[in-house]
Order: sequence, then structure tokens, then C-alpha cells
Amino acid sequence: MLRPPPPTAIPEPARPDLPRHIGIIMDGNGRWARRRHLPRVAGHRAGVRAIRQVMEACNDAGVHILTLYAFSTENWQRPRGEVTSLMRLFQETMDGEIDELDAKGIQIRIIGDRAKLSPRLRETVDECEARTVHNRANVLNVAINYGGRSEVVEAIRELATRGVDLRTLDEATLSAALYTAGLPDPDLIIRTAGELRVSNFLLWQGAYAELHVTETLWPDFGPADVAVALGDFGRRRRTFGQVPETPAGGAAAGPAAGPAAGAAAGPAAHAGADAAHGTAIASRAG
Ligand code: FPP
Repeated sequence: MLRPPPPTAIPEPARPDLPRHIGIIMDGNGRWARRRHLPRVAGHRAGVRAIRQVMEACNDAGVHILTLYAFSTENWQRPRGEVTSLMRLFQETMDGEIDELDAKGIQIRIIGDRAKLSPRLRETVDECEARTVHNRANVLNVAINYGGRSEVVEAIRELATRGVDLRTLDEATLSAALYTAGLPDPDLIIRTAGELRVSNFLLWQGAYAELHVTETLWPDFGPADVAVALGDFGRRRRTFGQVPETPAGGAAAGPAAGPAAGAAAGPAAHAGADAAHGTAIASRAG
């Protein structure tokens, strides 16, 4: 895997009850189009418009790292015409948006196996990354030909190739070999269009992510839905498998004061991420 150097100094969320990193499974484009008697690609085009709005809403809310699931390793099995349309859309969108994204200080990373992309698209994604690598306002990861299982397998293969002794492999070393190296794990994964599954998305990184599933189809997902998802996240009590501390009086801490308060790092620290926000967790063992 070829990855850009890890970003440093990406702004922290504006408030401690916000996620540092949101992953989004953008589902429902086909249904959105079908309901309007439009071709599926019209749904994907509408999906691109939604991306713009959602990126802005996240930035305005103070969340600065987003990962969008645009094309999975399984999506090649879609009808050939749809795959071609999607690839064309990726190309067009990147060509058309790069100036503005760069001007806004957004660092773009394409995560996934780019070997299967056309040489032209590969060149475009390489250029987008190279041009924005020093941007620090926001990080936008776009997952194209991405699969969580193959990401882990590839990372282990690469570590073996580099001569790392796999018998002593630890979580931080593996995290640092993933596409998301240097970024905090997603605290929140949003899935649109109602399906209750993670579909091979950020399997390793999402180990402790809060899930927010909405019936809203991706093209209809907008700033108000972002606000709902963030509100939902802010009310979660995050325990990372441990027991929330209770204040001396006995009552359990409320979500804002407890582990839900934007805790970004689980017990297994991920590379480059730190427990920036206080967590009040008492270990079950301790
Ligand atoms: C899932 O909806 C959506 C996709 C497989 C494609 C998502 C891609 C985009 C929104 C375009 C992104 C473009 C860039 C440049 C990032 P679906 O087609 O599976 O919907 P359905 O389940 O209703 O059929």
C-alpha cells in the first residue's frame, strides 16, 4: 500500500462531545433514483451533491475528519454500465472539485486498492493526494475499491515484506500500516438507507465506533441529518468494554461527563491518535 505521510495537527473537534472522525456508508442512491424513475447513475450524481453539503455541515459543526465509502471491493460485481458510470463520476468529480477542495485546505486521501483503477483515474487520485498532502484544515478519505478485510491482509503482507517479525506484531504496528495511518479511528459510523450492517467498511478502525443508522437515502442526507447524527453521538455513553465510573454520590455519570464525551481512543491505542478527551473509565479488572 502506498500511503501519504500521516497528517499532523488536524484540528480537534470544536467540542468534546463531537466525534473526531466520522465514517459514512453512503447507501440508497439506487433507491433514490428508482423512486424518481431515473437511472441509477442519477442517484449517484445526486449522491455527489449530498457529499458537498455533508462535508460543509461537518466542518461547520467542528468535525474535521471524514471517510466516505464510495466503492467497495464487492461493487465491481454491479452491472458493467453502472461500474463504468461510477468510475466516470469519480474522475469527473475529482477533476472538477480539486481546486476548491485544495483552496479550502482539505487533505484528500484515497483509501483502497488503486491497482484496479484505470491508469487515468489512478493518476488523478495520485495527483489529488500529492497536491493536498500538506493541507491541514480537514481530511477527506474517499474509499474506492476498498474492503476492510483486504486492507488488513494487505497491511500484514506489507509488514512481512518489510521484515517485521509477525510473531511480535502488535495493534499499533498494524494500525500504522493501514490506509488510515496516523488518523484517529472513527468515533462514529453513519449508514444511510436503513441497512443494519457494516459491509466490510473500516473493520479494524471501527472496532469501537458508535453506529448511527438512518432510513434517509444518501442523496437526501443533508445538514439536518448530520445534526441529528451528532446529537445521537453526543448522547452515547462510550465505555470501550469497561465500566463507567460512578461519582461518589452513586449516580452514573451523564453522557456529557462520561466516556461519551468525545473519547476518541479505545483501550487499544491507535497509531497517531491519543486520548485527547478525558475519559472516566474504571477498568472491570482494576
Ligand atoms: C450505494 O448506493 C452507493 C454507492 C455504491 C456509490 C456511492 C458513490 C457516490 C455517492 C459517488 C461518490 C463520488 C465521489 C467522487 C466520492 P446503492 O447504489 O447501493 O443504493 P441502493 O442500495 O438503493 O441500490
